[in-house]
Amino acid sequence: MSAAMRPMRVAAVEEPAPRVRTLRLEPLDGGALAPFAPGSHVELRCGERVNAYSLTSDPRDATHYAVSVLRVAEGRGGSRWLHDALAPGQEVEVGAPRSAFAPPAAARHHLLVGAGIGLTPFLSYVAHFERRGISYELHHVHRAGDGPHAAALGVPAPRLHLHRGRGAFAAALPRLLDEAAIGTHLSVCGPPAMIDEALGAARERGWPEGRLHSERFVGVEAPPGTPFRVRLARSGAELPVGADETLLEVLERAGTGLPSLCRQGVCGECRAGVLAGEPQHHDLYLSDEERASGTAIMPCVSRCASPVLELDL
Ligand code: FES
Repeated sequence: MSAAMRPMRVAAVEEPAPRVRTLRLEPLDGGALAPFAPGSHVELRCGERVNAYSLTSDPRDATHYAVSVLRVAEGRGGSRWLHDALAPGQEVEVGAPRSAFAPPAAARHHLLVGAGIGLTPFLSYVAHFERRGISYELHHVHRAGDGPHAAALGVPAPRLHLHRGRGAFAAALPRLLDEAAIGTHLSVCGPPAMIDEALGAARERGWPEGRLHSERFVGVEAPPGTPFRVRLARSGAELPVGADETLLEVLERAGTGLPSLCRQGVCGECRAGVLAGEPQHHDLYLSDEERASGTAIMPCVSRCASPVLELDL
C-alpha cells in the first residue's frame, strides 16, 4: 500500500445515480482531516481489496471525506463490497489523499468534461472554484437511462450541462471548443475513447497541448484473470498470483514497497521491470514500444500470460 491507512466511520450513504454510492467518511476520533488538492483521490480497503477513488467532497472541509463508487459487477469485488457489505456506522480504512489530477492554475476558464463516474474528480474542483470565484463550466456525459450523477451532488445549475449519451456530447463538442474564451483549458475524465475524441477535436482546432488535460478512466477494477507465479529476482522468492487478485496486491503483501497511486493502470507509479515471462498488458500508461519490448509492467492491472513472471524487484 502506498500510504498509511486510517480507520474512518461511514457516517452516511447516498445513491446519487443508479449503481453509484456516495460514502461520507468521518474520522473515528472526531479530529480534523487534512485539506487536499482538488482532484485528489484516496485508497480504500474494500474487504480484501484496496481500490482508489476520487474525493468528491470540499477540499477545505476538515470534517469528512466523500467518495462516489460505481458498482462494477464484473470487477474483482472491491466496489461490490462497498455497495453490498458496507453499511452506515461501519469502519473502513482510508489512505491519505493523493493528488494526481489538480486543476491547471494558469487557466482563465475551465471547460470540464466528465463522463459517467469520470465526473467524480471534478466534484472537488467545483467546491474549490466556487470558493475562489474561478470561472468554469462542467459537462457531464451520462448514459440514457442512467440518472445524471452531478445533479444530486450540489453542482450549481448554471454551471452544469448534461449530455445524455456520447452522441449528444459529440454533437455539442465543436461548438464548445469554437466558442471557448481565450485562456480556456479543457480537462476531460472518462473512457479513453471519449478522451481521445475530445482532445483530438481540440487539437484539430489548434488548441496547444498545454491547455489539454485528461485523466483516463479505465473501469475502476482490473478484471479477474488466469493464475500465474511471480518471481522476485532480488530475493529469489516465488509467489502465486490468484485469479481474483492483482499482481500489485501480491507484491504489496510480499513487502516489496512498490508505490502505487491510481491502481487503474494510468499513472505509471507502480511500474516494475520485467526480466522474464510474458506480460499481459491491461494498462494505458506504457507506450506500444515498451509493451513490445516486454521489459516493463504495471502490476496494478496487468498480469502474465506465461506460468511465471520474473520481476526486477
Ligand atoms: S498505480 Fe497507477 S499505473 Fe499502477
